[in-house]
Amino acid sequence: MNKDYDVIVIGGGAIGLATAQHLGKRKAKTLVLEQFTFVNQLGSSAGVSRQFRIPYPDEYMVQMALDAEPYWDELQKQTDATLMDKVGTLWFGDPEVHSTEGNIKEAEEALKALNVPYTSLTAKEIEEKYHFKNLPETYTGLFQPDGASINFKATIETLLELCQKDENITLEDNSPVFKITPIGDLFEITTTNGTYITEKIAIVPGPYINSVINLLDFKIEATYWNMSSAYFKKTDPSIQYPTWFVFQNSIGENGNQFYGFPSVDWDHPEYIRVAPDFVIEAIEEPNDRTLIPNSQELAYTSEWIKEHMTGLSTEPEYTSTCLIALSKIPNKELLIDFAPSYVPNYKNVVLYATGWAAKFTPFLGKIMADLALDGHTDFDISPFQLGGKFFKRF
Ligand code: BEZ
Repeated sequence: MNKDYDVIVIGGGAIGLATAQHLGKRKAKTLVLEQFTFVNQLGSSAGVSRQFRIPYPDEYMVQMALDAEPYWDELQKQTDATLMDKVGTLWFGDPEVHSTEGNIKEAEEALKALNVPYTSLTAKEIEEKYHFKNLPETYTGLFQPDGASINFKATIETLLELCQKDENITLEDNSPVFKITPIGDLFEITTTNGTYITEKIAIVPGPYINSVINLLDFKIEATYWNMSSAYFKKTDPSIQYPTWFVFQNSIGENGNQFYGFPSVDWDHPEYIRVAPDFVIEAIEEPNDRTLIPNSQELAYTSEWIKEHMTGLSTEPEYTSTCLIALSKIPNKELLIDFAPSYVPNYKNVVLYATGWAAKFTPFLGKIMADLALDGHTDFDISPFQLGGKFFKRF
């Protein structure tokens, strides 16, 4: 049997397209299969901005963010759109709190260890420099100047255009995969539109990961968050915020962790996006997601804005949700690995799953392409190679 493709990429979101772009550059004959349409709002996030940040409590994550920077620079050269507004990252709050994103003290240690520049801040300094108010005196913070708001729509559109121009790449949307059959050294992949033979598979369908890997008889233990987000009108047009995250203890069902963005010209320019980094109730599976945010989560966000931010209306407008699959691994690392060894030709099946990875998009594309074509990458993926622990066989 002859193969139609060297690699089939399952998932045509940002990371799938970035993977295809790197495969195309290496002249691999590549097919991208997307279950919805390209540039949709149904993947892991809705809304068009994401945070790029370097602070993480683990040095290997800081290293990954640093390694991602040149790949963003490279992608920026391919488009006239501005992909990143470098307003910096502000992390602040209770230094003892360990949140879903980490811990301020540990992040400072990791930044120091890797010689990443940042400034430590007191509560008073945060209020004076960054427009927050009424912060408890015990709060501390750090500002890291390389943080940015990512223009994610432009990122996806740029990647899509690069893939469209590359003769090695075929793009198919509205093509959900419903069968994967190992045949000798190859795989047969069946979608609603056809059947294709490939040597290798790169699986990157975001939160829909289990619906694809189920076809190879394994799954990942994950929880799904349908996260709320909203835009708040600027009452002071001159006000500007960095990208920020506040670490606080939860109060009952109010997770009490919030994050926000600067106002940017690509995304409701007169508004600022602020969102809760918690969900009151996790959902069972991606298909249970709704595009309507939880009103109580938005109410807690408004309350926090009223109490602690300046220059903003406190009524949410332009609301959206984003869907995220989180592994049950403490700290919710990304999972990058080959399929488990009971899958035939498992070394020819590479996948990325779970966690917040938009900020790594072009770099993760390179890692996935190298793993698919070479079976290894120069970047140390050992902290992410967690399949042995977290893949479950049916
Ligand atoms: C992140 O940078 O990964 C992130 C920021 C805010 C909320 C969730 C994730």
